[in-house]
Amino acid sequence: NFYAVIMAGGIGSRFWPISRTAHPKQFIDILGTGKTLIQQTYERFLKIVPAGNIYIVTNDNYKSLVAEQLPQLAADQILGEPVMRNTAPCIAYACHKIAMLNPEASIVVSPADHLILDTEEFVKDINFSLDAASRNNCLITLGIKPSRPDTGYGYIQFTQHTLEGNLYKVKTFTEKPNAELANTFVHSGEFLWNAGIFVWSVSSILNAFDQHLHEMNEIFKEGDKNFNTPAEQPFIQNAYYQCTNISIDYGIMEKASNVYVLPTDFGWSDLGTWASVYELSEKDYLGNAVQHSKKVMMYDSSNCIVNVPPDKLVVLQGLDDYIVVEANNTLMICHKSQEQRVKEIVSDVKSKF
Ligand code: GDD
Ligand code: MG
Repeated sequence: NFYAVIMAGGIGSRFWPISRTAHPKQFIDILGTGKTLIQQTYERFLKIVPAGNIYIVTNDNYKSLVAEQLPQLAADQILGEPVMRNTAPCIAYACHKIAMLNPEASIVVSPADHLILDTEEFVKDINFSLDAASRNNCLITLGIKPSRPDTGYGYIQFTQHTLEGNLYKVKTFTEKPNAELANTFVHSGEFLWNAGIFVWSVSSILNAFDQHLHEMNEIFKEGDKNFNTPAEQPFIQNAYYQCTNISIDYGIMEKASNVYVLPTDFGWSDLGTWASVYELSEKDYLGNAVQHSKKVMMYDSSNCIVNVPPDKLVVLQGLDDYIVVEANNTLMICHKSQEQRVKEIVSDVKSKF
């Protein structure tokens, strides 16, 4: 009765020029391991649920990329969305579809583009959560010990009351707080980051949709008779345009009262920025991390991350703390401390070229 839903519809603009709208982060081997992030995510879930119970939800434009990178998947396991409407419709679609196949299902929902270092620990935590979710009406989220007041995450405040094992009852869930709040949260020691990985029974999540995103739920309920039939595609093509653009975090997690958190420690990173990739990469004694290319020569350079095609000869002299990335015939050299600007730089570049 265990299912996995992998969300793979984002566009990952901070990883430019490697990540592009036509080829976002989840489809890239960002750390140079030989496998793309979505392939790694898929393989992790193969250790937990049957191969036939893994679904990928992605934009229609990326369906062929998914099929190419995961040829094991049957066509019906790749769910296409005609427009980006954030994660709430994505989850509503997958969960309504699975409910029609198996009303007893327990589902783990996960981003396609996160890094997890300790697979064994991850498998243990997800199995425990799926099992707990099958017996309780609850929404489980995985918590990560915060290391900085990052405003890009959800913050979870939990109580000492447990459901079973280490599943703590959540008191508040705050998605993307402002800097001041994030700072207070981290220093209080009472909060965890939301990893963006959720576990629930299909009935618990559909109840939550009915309660907190009622209109959206009605749209997908209308489709229940069409799911897993040839009418599914035409229905979805139309339904998505009626959905509001909202994430599961704002739409449900902040509002629901039956949320529980499992504190975890499996070496998680959402690989949100080049600096986070740098932190996780192997480095030489001067702190330089080189990916893909075997022909990078460095002189008087330290703490750089170099990510260039395998056959590229690169020579650096006198660079400290820089990101050097080449892909798609584009070279970007940017100071590590300024990488948050990449997003805005990309839109500027796009407006000119
Ligand atoms: N199919 C589909 N459709 N997938 C989507 C869509 C969509 O419209 N929008 C986003 N996704 C996918 C992304 O590719 C990513 O894998 C995942 O859903 C989460 O979306 P993000 O856009 O990366 O969310 P976030 O980083 O702002 O915030 C979430 O993740 C944080 C941890 O990384 C939240 O859950 C936060 O609370 C959490 O801390
Ligand atoms: Mg993210």
